[in-house]
Amino acid sequence: MDLGIDGDTVVVTASSAGLGRASAEALADEGANVVICGRDPERLADAEAELADLAGDVLGVETDITSKADIDALVEAAVEAFGGIDHVVTSAGGVPPGGFADTTEEAWYGAFDMLVMSAVWTVEAARPYLEASDAGTITCITSTTVNEVADDLILSNAVRRGVIGLVKSLSRELAPSVRVNAVLPAAHETSRIEELVEASVERGDHDTYEAGLQSWADDIPLGRIGGPRELGDVVAFLASDRASFVTGACIPVDGGRLRSA
Ligand SMILES: NC(=O)c1ccc[n+]([C@@H]2O[C@H](COP(=O)([O-])OP(=O)(O)OC[C@H]3O[C@@H](n4cnc5c(N)ncnc54)[C@H](OP(=O)(O)O)[C@@H]3O)[C@@H](O)[C@H]2O)c1
Repeated sequence: MDLGIDGDTVVVTASSAGLGRASAEALADEGANVVICGRDPERLADAEAELADLAGDVLGVETDITSKADIDALVEAAVEAFGGIDHVVTSAGGVPPGGFADTTEEAWYGAFDMLVMSAVWTVEAARPYLEASDAGTITCITSTTVNEVADDLILSNAVRRGVIGLVKSLSRELAPSVRVNAVLPAAHETSRIEELVEASVERGDHDTYEAGLQSWADDIPLGRIGGPRELGDVVAFLASDRASFVTGACIPVDGGRLRSA
C-alpha cells in the first residue's frame, strides 16, 4: 500500500532511539523527510546515520523536549531545512517508575513537562505549518496506561491521561485541516522496557531479568513483546492519507494486552 507521504516533512520528538526512532524509520521508508531529536548528541548522530539510506531525508537536532526553547528551535530547524511541516509525531522519555509514596512533587511536575508540555509546546510551534499543509496530522505516542493503570507506574498512569485529553480536544479544534490521533504501546523491545523490567527485579517481583521480561509477554495474547517498528508502522499509517477519516482515535498497539475496549 502506497501511503502517499513521499516528500512530506515530519517532526518526531524523542526519536534518537526506541519508538520515536522506529516511527521516524517507518516514515522515512515511505519517502517522508524526518526531523529527529534527542539529548545525547552521539546517540542522535548514530540514529541520523542509520536512517540516512532510507527514501526520505533525515535531519537530527539536539533537543531537550522538557525545554520550550529547544522545541521552538527544533521546529524552526525543520522549517528551515524542508520549508514546512506536514506531520508531528510526539514521543517522550520515560518517567520514573514507582508508587504514590515514592513520588516527589518535583517528579510530578517533571512528568508533566516530559509527557504533556512537550506535546503542547510541539503542537504550539508546529500548528501554523500543519494548518498550512494539505495533509496535516499529529500523532501522540502514549501508553496503554491511559486505559488500564499499571502497578508501580503512578506517574504514567496519572499524567499521560492529559495527553489523551489534548488529543481528543485538538481533534475537534483543529478539524478539518489537521487530524489528531494517539497510539498506545504496551511492551515493545526498547531500553524503556529494559528499565521497567530491571526495576521489577530490584523490587523483588521477579528473580531474574528473563523472568521479568517473560511476565510481560505472558500477559500479551500474541505471546510476545512487540518490535518497535510494529508501532512505527501504525504511526506512519496514521500520518498517511490512507487514514484520512481517522481522527480523535486512541489506538492500542499492544498485541491484545488491554482487556478493555
Ligand atoms: N517501549 C515500550 O514498550 C513503551 C510502552 C508504553 C509506553 N512507552 C513510552 O513511550 C515513550 C518512548 O519510549 P521508548 O521505548 O521509545 O523509550 P527509549 O527507547 O528509552 O527511547 C527514548 C528516546 O527519547 C529520547 N529522550 C528521552 N528524554 C528526552 C528529552 N528530555 N528530550 C529529548 N529526547 C529525550 C531518548 O534520547 P536521549 O536520552 O538521548 O535524550 C531516546 O531517543 C516513553 O514515554 C515510554 O514511557 C513505551
